Formats: sequence, C-alpha cells, structure tokens
Amino acid sequence: MKEQLEKMEQEALAELRTVATEGELQELRVKYLGKKGELTSLMKGLGSLSPEERPVMGEILNRVKNGLENEFEAALKHVKEFSKTAKLQNEKIDVTLPGRTVSTGTKHPVTLITEEICDIFAKLGFSVAEGPEIEEDYYNFEALNFPKDHPARDMQDTFFVQNNLLLRTHTSPVQVRTMLKTKPPVRIIAPGTVYRCDYDATHSPMFHQVEGLMVDKNITFGDLKGILTTFTNQMFGNDIGVRLRPSFFPFTEPSAEVDIACVICRGKGCKVCKHSGWLEILGAGMVDPEVFKHVHYDPEEISGFAFGMGIERIAMLKYGINDMRLLFENDIRFLKQF
Ligand code: PHE
Repeated sequence: MKEQLEKMEQEALAELRTVATEGELQELRVKYLGKKGELTSLMKGLGSLSPEERPVMGEILNRVKNGLENEFEAALKHVKEFSKTAKLQNEKIDVTLPGRTVSTGTKHPVTLITEEICDIFAKLGFSVAEGPEIEEDYYNFEALNFPKDHPARDMQDTFFVQNNLLLRTHTSPVQVRTMLKTKPPVRIIAPGTVYRCDYDATHSPMFHQVEGLMVDKNITFGDLKGILTTFTNQMFGNDIGVRLRPSFFPFTEPSAEVDIACVICRGKGCKVCKHSGWLEILGAGMVDPEVFKHVHYDPEEISGFAFGMGIERIAMLKYGINDMRLLFENDIRFLKQF
C-alpha cells in the first residue's frame, strides 16, 4: 500500500507540472483528492489493515494528502497569476503601431460627367428636373408624337413592364411631365437612367441621358445652337469644332444631330471617328407643335428647343474610354483613375 501511495504521489506531482489552466487543475484535483479520487480510495483501504499497521499508514496517508493539497493550492495560485499576465499581455496596445489607412472611394465617371453637365447648364439658368424610370407609354411615346407603329416602340428596343408600362427608353418623357406641371418659361435639364434592349461595346441595356428643354416666347434655332456650342466648348475646350447635321425625331421639328470634332484626331480622321473627323454627341431640335398641344401650350405663342445626350458616350469621349462595358463592370482599378 505504501508503494502504491508513493507511486500515486509521484504521478500526481508529475501531472500537476503540466497543468496550464484552472479547469485542468480542477479536473486533476477531482482525479486525486475528490470523493471518488485515487487518494480517497486508498484511504478506504485502511480498514483492511491490521491494528498495528493502521496508525502508521494513516499518518503517511495524511501527510501525502496534506502535501498534495498544498501543492494544488500553490499550483492554483501559479495558474491564476499566469492567466492574468497572459490576459494583460493580450490586451496590451502598441501605441507606436501605424494606423490603418481608410481608403476613400471615388466618384464614378458617369457621376462625374453628370455633375459636370449639370454645372455647365446651371450656369446657363437651367434647373434640374426628374421623372420616373418606369414610365407610361403615353409620356414615353404618345405625347412625344411617336406614331403607333414607330419601330422604337417595338419589343426589340423597349423593355415593357406591362401593356402600357415600360422602362423609359429616353429622358424625353420628362419634357412632357415638366410642361404639364408648369407654365412657360421652362428651362430644365433632366439627367437620369434609361433602358434599351441593346448590348455591345458602345451600347448598354441600361445607360444614362441628360435631357434639356428651353421654352419661352421667341426661342429660335439660333438659341439652340448658341446654348449647345457654349456647352461643347465648356465640356471639350473652346477650340473644339462643332457642327449641326439635319436629322429626324418625332418630337422635334426641325431636328439636328450635333457633332464635335474628333477628340482623338481633332478632325484629321482616325479609327475612333471612322475617318470622318467628327463624333456625334447629341440629338436636338425645336419642340414639335404636336408636343405643345399635348401639354396645352399654344405653339402660336411660344416656341422652344430640346436636346438629349448619352452620358456614357460623353464620358468615353472625354476620358478616352474605348468600351462602354468598362463603365458598368465597376473594377476598382478602373474607377480609381478618375
Ligand atoms: N430622346 C432622343 C434620343 O434618345 C434625343 C433627343 C432629345 C432628341 C431631345 C431631340 C430632342 O435619342
């Protein structure tokens, strides 16, 4: 029994040395000193000893027990101390570490160009108007004098939501909505998202336009030319060439397309301008009397002009971007450059 006791004591002390946490220590205490522990069961064996042996063994048992209890106490203190320093060590803040840099976002090129366009027109007295992206057939087509069988109404171009509801294909319905709400004079621009079923390097099913509308007494084609030349000069530089070509839109008469001299070759001819020296940037014209009738303006009294341009196209020309899809992929490395 004495040997058993010494063996147990050695084992207990050896195990104690490997203990690292209070939990482990508690387990070990149960294993040796608990009610069903090894020392306790050895003590129960005292009863089977002879009366002479019993006090001798009893004394040894008590000594081992006290010794172990002291060892456990000391170990507990040690473990507590250890976990406290470990905790403090973990919580220590190195005030000399450099701070984490917060990377700032940048504005999307489409946003930058929209803001720039709005700024230029704000200085010319235009205020910003808005309209819904889910639009009624009436505002998008009917009131803008699109004939019932006009190809733009076709499923291939227009995303229909329901029979009379569609994703607006241009910002021109804002013209109608604005004129229905206000009396002349009107001087607005309307930036916004538009949708067409089209997708390649220069077309996206979702893109942005800025609409312009100026209506008052005696507004002439000369005013249209003056305002748009001022705009192109501010946007692309004073020396940029501008030309107007006759064109057609159902809601303007006469209509024109506005070109600027190629921003790449400055008019000499290159791949970007298909060797014409010119780049088309917007559609415009004098508001058609038919449109005025829909909004209860008297075409005998007033006149006006309207224009519309694709913002992505302006951004591509201004920044030299050759694929429109780059503007929608949102690759940070691309967006950071503006
Ligand atoms: N809404 C036309 C388009 O999307 C552009 C335009 C607007 C033309 C205003 C003339 C006047 O192509």
